[in-house]
Amino acid sequence: MSDLRGRSFLTLMDYSPEEIQLLLDTAADLKRTKQAHIPHATHKGKSIALLFEKTSTRTRCAFEVAAADLGINAVYLGQGETQFGKKESTEDTARVLGRMFDGIEFRGFAHQTVKDLAEFSGVPVWNGLTDEFHPTQVLADFLTIIEHTGKLKGSKLVFVGDGSDNVSNSLMIGAAKMGVHYVIATPDSLQPPAELIEKAKQLAENSGGSINITSDLMAAVDGADVLYTDVWMSMGQEDQMADRIEKLRNYQVNMDVVRATHNPNVKFLHCLPAFHDQNTVIGREVYEKFGLGEMEVTDEVFRSPHSIVFDQSENRLHTIKALMALTL
Ligand code: CP
Ligand code: NVA
Repeated sequence: MSDLRGRSFLTLMDYSPEEIQLLLDTAADLKRTKQAHIPHATHKGKSIALLFEKTSTRTRCAFEVAAADLGINAVYLGQGETQFGKKESTEDTARVLGRMFDGIEFRGFAHQTVKDLAEFSGVPVWNGLTDEFHPTQVLADFLTIIEHTGKLKGSKLVFVGDGSDNVSNSLMIGAAKMGVHYVIATPDSLQPPAELIEKAKQLAENSGGSINITSDLMAAVDGADVLYTDVWMSMGQEDQMADRIEKLRNYQVNMDVVRATHNPNVKFLHCLPAFHDQNTVIGREVYEKFGLGEMEVTDEVFRSPHSIVFDQSENRLHTIKALMALTL
């Protein structure tokens, strides 16, 4: 069996298909254990730091609750609450945190930061989202697909929307490793980086998966097992609102798109948070400025039986727990 102890988790690129499968199987085991109310504080005496430059609901809560379940002490270090960045470099911060903590979660902007934390801290570092990647999300997504469709390999997963998105980048790597047919429906101006597409296509050749990118939304979704979307403006892109709405308004997951899959059992996933109504500050702003009451997904699809987004969000807990349990 693979031993993941001491390993960081920066992107899925660093993990073999067998190691990804081990993480998913361990998450499923830990989920059953929790549901059976069986205590599993297997990592008592460990401490971890949760370093956040960007906001979070799911990732932060998953790390905190998973840590508590495993008997780990978690310390949340939010933006502006430490010397990090303003008065102290990433390297020095990493060296200090590595002396006190057994592991570090980082969410922020530059992907280089999470790499530097891993290089200089000497302890496992888990990427809780950067501008480029969101690998812990994909573990939850894959567990959810397996639970609801019975399989992952050979599935057709179609991402609709911002093809340059961090979640999509990580889904592409994960799909390429695990033999999934991954299709991105996105405007030509929002394609993923060419180098990443090339690497993913090479990996897919070994796994039996495939990677396709197209601007033809309705053709892309035909035969899909799973539809996936994410916000049109990721954290840090709020100033690009008008441009992104212009580019992406024809890439909304609505019932026409669901019907175009020709799969009555198609599942809908979204990493969340989602703009499916006007019950948020940004949702209302977009409605007032652009007359759009819903963005990447309609309320109808979001609340439909196709949607398994809250099962998906719960699985953040079980998969992040598996990641910590195996790497600490
Ligand atoms: N999906 C996800 O990462 O959610 P948060 O931004 O709430 O952590
Ligand atoms: N692409 C989104 C994901 C949020 C979980 C963002 O970066 O804001």
